[in-house]
Amino acid sequence: MNKHKVVMTGGLIASALKRLEETCAVKRWEQADPMPREMLFDWLKDAVGLVVTGNIQVDEELLQHAPVLKVIVQASVGYDNIDIEACTRHGILFGNTPGVLVDATADLAFSLLLCSARRIHEGWDFVRAGSWRPGHTMPFGIDLAGKTLGIVGMGQIGAAVAKRARAFGMDVIYYNRNRRPDDNKIGATYEPFNVLLDKADCIIVLTPLSKETRGLFGQEQFRRMKSTAYFINVARGPVVDTDALLDALQTGQIAYAALDVTDPEPLPGEHPLLKLDNILITPHIGSATTETRTAMAELAADNLLAGLADKPMPACVNGNV
Ligand code: DGY
Repeated sequence: MNKHKVVMTGGLIASALKRLEETCAVKRWEQADPMPREMLFDWLKDAVGLVVTGNIQVDEELLQHAPVLKVIVQASVGYDNIDIEACTRHGILFGNTPGVLVDATADLAFSLLLCSARRIHEGWDFVRAGSWRPGHTMPFGIDLAGKTLGIVGMGQIGAAVAKRARAFGMDVIYYNRNRRPDDNKIGATYEPFNVLLDKADCIIVLTPLSKETRGLFGQEQFRRMKSTAYFINVARGPVVDTDALLDALQTGQIAYAALDVTDPEPLPGEHPLLKLDNILITPHIGSATTETRTAMAELAADNLLAGLADKPMPACVNGNV
């Protein structure tokens, strides 16, 4: 039997890769640097499947170089690097991995809030620097109980963050493109965006990156926030105007930021955000647990194998092509 030709622009957990290799002839980019575009175009000449990574833009130009491509999958819930309309125009299915990373990402979002509020990493720096001696003190953190958390983007991960926040005694308000009919059950109150900015003590951003959300948080939005506000972004870097955030942190418009995503990503070593004391940055690890990354890889493999076999994909974004 002829194996399906599949291109991969990065790695995949071994068990999922092994399943793909049983029925597919997999050609994989194995270097740490992003795969050069021209080389990808060449590899795609005869590929029917593509397992793509977030550092590759899938656009009209790329699809023009992929005359027999049927299915594209990515092991992530976000797909802002994929032009879905172009995929649909070319009759190509695209599958992502929603659902399986909800708890891991909600845990990371809430961990960033807790670590910021209680100055955990400054505490560790303080101890490690040998400063834990009589007469030396660290700045106090803040209580979370009784504070208002504003969640921007109330999907599955937002609801999971709300559950954690409620357990810590926080009041939860949220803004979403559409008000959720089940927000009572989630224990979160819908507010217009500007009202959320005015009221929230802490803000967690979870909205996908789109034309509408690019630069959603800029100068005007940071100016509206409380000067004591904590701002957490675990969504995508470009949802926030980096220069406006830098200014807000430097001038005390807000108190603190914690970011799992940045723009650019990664930040260059000399970036001014890295010099601030009122910030905590992690390297895009929202879904980075062994269990979750395995589940994401397996779901991506399920998607690809189903799509190539003309069966319904478990998670297809443009299922109607
Ligand atoms: C996602 O799944 O979108 C995560 O951010 C990993 O890119």
